[in-house]
Amino acid sequence: MRLPIGYPKAVLLSCAVLLAGCGSGGAGGGSPTPVLNPQAATPVLSVNTGTYTALQSVTISDATAGATIHYTTDGSTPTAASATYAAPIAVATTTTIEALAVASDATNSSVAKSTYTILFPSAPPIPAVTDIHRGFIYQIVTDRFFDGDTSNDNPAESPGLYDTNGFTNPAQADWHLYWGGDLDGIRQKMNYIKSLGAAGIWISPPLDAIRENAGASNGETAYHGYWPRDMMRIDEHFGDDANSWTAFDNMVTAAHAVGIKVFVDFVANHTNPIGAGEDGSLYENGTPITTYSTDTGATLYYHHNPNIGNYNDRYQVQYYTLEGLADLDQTNPWVDQYLKNAVMQLLAHGADGFRFDAVKDVNWGWAYSLENTIANWNGSPTLPNATARPFIFGEWSEGSGDALYPDSVKYSNNSGMNLLDYTLYYQLADVFGSDKSFTEIDNELTLEDAGSSSSSAQPFTQPNDLVTFFDNHDNARIMTLGADQMAMKQAIAFLLTCRGVPVLYYGDEQYLHNDTAGGTDPYNRNPMTSFNTTDAVLLTQYLAALRASNPAIAYGTMQQRWINDDVYIYERQLGANVVLIAINKSPTASQAIGGLYTDLPPGTYTDYLAQTMGGTGIAVTGTAGSNNPVTNFTLPLRSVSIWLSQGSVPPSIGSVTPRVANPGATVTIDGAGFGAIAGTVNWTVGSTTLPATVTNWSDAQITAVVPALPAGAAKVTVTEGAATSAPAPFTVNTAPLIPVDFSVAGTPILASSDVLLLAGSVVELGNWAAAWNAAIGPVTIPAAGSGLQTVSVPAGSTVQFKFFVLHGDGTVTREGGANHSYVIPASGVGTVSVTWQN
Ligand code: NOJ
Ligand code: NOJ
Repeated sequence: MRLPIGYPKAVLLSCAVLLAGCGSGGAGGGSPTPVLNPQAATPVLSVNTGTYTALQSVTISDATAGATIHYTTDGSTPTAASATYAAPIAVATTTTIEALAVASDATNSSVAKSTYTILFPSAPPIPAVTDIHRGFIYQIVTDRFFDGDTSNDNPAESPGLYDTNGFTNPAQADWHLYWGGDLDGIRQKMNYIKSLGAAGIWISPPLDAIRENAGASNGETAYHGYWPRDMMRIDEHFGDDANSWTAFDNMVTAAHAVGIKVFVDFVANHTNPIGAGEDGSLYENGTPITTYSTDTGATLYYHHNPNIGNYNDRYQVQYYTLEGLADLDQTNPWVDQYLKNAVMQLLAHGADGFRFDAVKDVNWGWAYSLENTIANWNGSPTLPNATARPFIFGEWSEGSGDALYPDSVKYSNNSGMNLLDYTLYYQLADVFGSDKSFTEIDNELTLEDAGSSSSSAQPFTQPNDLVTFFDNHDNARIMTLGADQMAMKQAIAFLLTCRGVPVLYYGDEQYLHNDTAGGTDPYNRNPMTSFNTTDAVLLTQYLAALRASNPAIAYGTMQQRWINDDVYIYERQLGANVVLIAINKSPTASQAIGGLYTDLPPGTYTDYLAQTMGGTGIAVTGTAGSNNPVTNFTLPLRSVSIWLSQGSVPPSIGSVTPRVANPGATVTIDGAGFGAIAGTVNWTVGSTTLPATVTNWSDAQITAVVPALPAGAAKVTVTEGAATSAPAPFTVNTAPLIPVDFSVAGTPILASSDVLLLAGSVVELGNWAAAWNAAIGPVTIPAAGSGLQTVSVPAGSTVQFKFFVLHGDGTVTREGGANHSYVIPASGVGTVSVTWQN
């Protein structure tokens, strides 16, 4: 519609309503001769059509005062209904932007159109790594990744649990059924995984799971793998109807052939749903052992308790039922051996380590003996990377404000089980998914790595061993929460440069998400439908190359250098290796950066990411010491910049795997600066220092045997020439560990700030320490006046012990009388019950 020029606005409005009569010289005659309104000026795009090798930020302006700009990026012609322009548009992939100006006193403008062809420079080559810290782990839900073998889609052994629509038409599919992804699918996509730069994969539990549909209220099928029935076999949906290991072995062989480690998700807490499906069925290599309701013998396989009601109660979380799933009694001697046999069988089939499911809900004290079994395992198959000991990490789902957070830190520090960094996860999802302040992340890192002044939470002794993530199969993906593609890439950039071992959830690099029902389980277990080289893939390659080549990322310190709600600048450092990372997540504002200090040496630095994330360069001038000033600069909006220097490093231990073990156990020491020629590895306990037998030595990885030291808290050092590393913490066990249930009756009734602890004569019992972090416990309280605590203690030793109460004010009430004495069995499990001595 064309409107006459020169009418006052009020007239125009009425003309709009009474269009037919306008200017026709009717009743209101005498107005000026109508003239046509001008057309709004054509919008101007700040970047011209062309080919670019870096991300572009396109600003759209218009000369017509008060005009609103509408635009499209999908090739359609913009209309007044198209998106309204508000802030510069980050162009990261080849894109056409078309813009239209709409103004109230003018006709719509002509359409401005520019096409940007983005050709990012390819990432540097990714050096091979032997330590998972130098890479990242790619997490896969096997059923949803790739259907490599259609013969197992609807297996004869368990027919009817499969939905053929899963990968092809997910909108019509039942997301609780099997969709056909399998171990052969992972094998076939190994080169894709390798091309991302992954150094490991974490696969969902592959072992034989229930063959029934457990019903809608139970989540239907075990496509996710978390409802095992027979932990000695591979599930028919992921392998074959014989439940053989063939597909698993072939997949592991393919992974190892390209230097990718395989971490297997292992469920030690439970089998499968009670009263539905197979009612907690348990098999050993095809032989039925029990179900939940037939578990009535003298020695029960399961705990028969209600569902966990209070996740802050140490007894409930370990001994009650998780989500209706039959809760294994790990100190039933048969169950203990079965679980350990299953883990050792996976190691024999080439597993490089484990993600242990729900460790908060598994008997905590028992886990030490599981880890000791892994530490002592030496049936090394002919694996290409057999020099590295198994890397293990557990899922302890907890925020740092939760009551049992201090217990999780103590468990990880003392047992040697690395944890998934769930507490940091919540902040990452908040910041990158919901655009919250970077201070959330920074505060959390400080709490985890430095400890809390307001609770008993200690720092994690090895923050670089925590396993970090921002998406997984149990939470809505951040793109469902609100992240767009740029926010996803910023999250990836942060994750792969933060301290810790990163896990990237499959599909994030393809911007995969399904927002149905808030995008939580099962809609976060998407079908992987594309394997393209997206910008996120390219970024991941850059970052994988950085992790592999600069040891500051895997093993260095992490220090905040500049922060506000939208900007986070932090530095990683190991010796003369320095990496400074700057993220600006604001979609609207670049940020002037003044007063930034760095340990980068004086000089000018270009962006390591080659401006593929819109970054910039910096100049550093020198001072006498460290803390060199960076010349003031502007950090572009929605950008990531990385500046780095590489240099020499004195011998530096990044991690010791495992970090709790017996004399004679083989350990892997990863780090940097060890030199090409073998030096010395020393273990020190108290005043005793002994050199270790070294079986393998390279600049970044040493394999050594724990010397025959007395048991206790130890320190490990690496000496190369005249230089000796800082010590790394280690615990030397007394002997191979077996789990023993220590129980006590007739204890004092505890006040709410009291805890019951246990101390005894060996390091495994805390060497009589009374401090919260060194003694054993807090002991679980099955009922007021009693205590029950599983402790993994040295087989065959005789130990003395006592229980004590630690009060909120730090004072202690000890048992009176003589020490309790106990002879630990030589194998199996043990039980010792005492009555509190006043
Ligand atoms: C279905 C989930 O996918 C699975 O992981 C969980 O164990 C069950 N629901 C039980 O809640
Ligand atoms: C945590 C797993 O990640 C989740 O998916 C599963 O349902 C529960 N543990 C129970 O196995």
